[in-house]
Amino acid sequence: MNLEQIKQSAFKEIEESRDLKSLEGLRIKYLGRKSQLVEILHSLKDVPLNQRQKIGPVANVLKKELDELIKNRKAELREDEGSKKIDLSRPAQKISRGHFHPLTIAEEKICRIFLTMNFSVVEGPEIENEFYNFDALNIPPNHPARDLWNTLWLKTRTDADKTQIDADKTRTKADSVRENLGRNQRQSALLLRTHTSPMQIRYMETHQPPFQIIVPGRVFRYEATDASHEINFYQVEGLMVGSRVSLANFKFIIETFLKKFFGPNIKFRFRPSYFPFVEPGLEVDVWFKDKWLEVMGAGMVARKVFDAVRYNPDQVQGFAFGLGLDRLVKIKYNLPDIRLLYSGDLRFIKQF
Ligand code: PHE
Repeated sequence: MNLEQIKQSAFKEIEESRDLKSLEGLRIKYLGRKSQLVEILHSLKDVPLNQRQKIGPVANVLKKELDELIKNRKAELREDEGSKKIDLSRPAQKISRGHFHPLTIAEEKICRIFLTMNFSVVEGPEIENEFYNFDALNIPPNHPARDLWNTLWLKTRTDADKTQIDADKTRTKADSVRENLGRNQRQSALLLRTHTSPMQIRYMETHQPPFQIIVPGRVFRYEATDASHEINFYQVEGLMVGSRVSLANFKFIIETFLKKFFGPNIKFRFRPSYFPFVEPGLEVDVWFKDKWLEVMGAGMVARKVFDAVRYNPDQVQGFAFGLGLDRLVKIKYNLPDIRLLYSGDLRFIKQF
């Protein structure tokens, strides 16, 4: 074959090649060491000069053209083979989106239920002081009831303390209450709130009844942990104050809430209990796995608490409650252990 024939048959075959393997065969056939073209190039040294000058450049150009052609065809075939591997009949892969934590889901659900009963949602600080967390709630220093809340105290006289003190200067009403109680809040130690009840005081200091609020938030206790206890957990405080608020109102609101949250067949009970800031005090239990599980403390706001916020206890009444969000989640989702909620274990979290 002369160069022109080589060119024609090579171009045709390369163009028609259907896969990478046969293309490689063609490369060896036309450009390999034993190919005609390479043989022609090798033999040039033995041919007379005038012929060499004619054939040499043509053969070299052809070699370059074939190189180029094979390279391009190879790229095309690669692309074809790649697309053959995509199986278009396969079902589409689901996009996995993130979602809210079960505690957040439950908190939102609770807020929605209370909003439909005309409650407002407010929030308060996680770093509290002794006055709001204890004293104003009728739990003076050295009162044995303080042992009910194993407290994480913060080191005193930090910068945070000073900021808190500056903020407190604006609260003239709180100042006078403090004087009444014979305590100087400027020395009130800082702590991580052990319950959301301090927001009862903060809210009543700055608002007049009638009102009804709930306060979701994180609380902290210095405690050993077990399946129903964590060192930090969530509560939702409730407070309704007005001129004719009764325990019957409380029972109705809580019954409505529990039935909306768990469904109409939920089994629960009210049981007498004690908290220094309510009188009478009670607890609410929910039937869970053949046992009563306590889910909230509650009661009618004590006169001393109204005193502390300068409400007239002869003119207003109110009820307060503090429910344990983690406990409600435990019951709703049938969890063996509330510590799972804080484990960050995706095998658990992804189930919600
Ligand atoms: N603050 C109480 C607790 O954490 C619960 C409670 C709130 C009780 C409101 C009565 C009224 O245990």
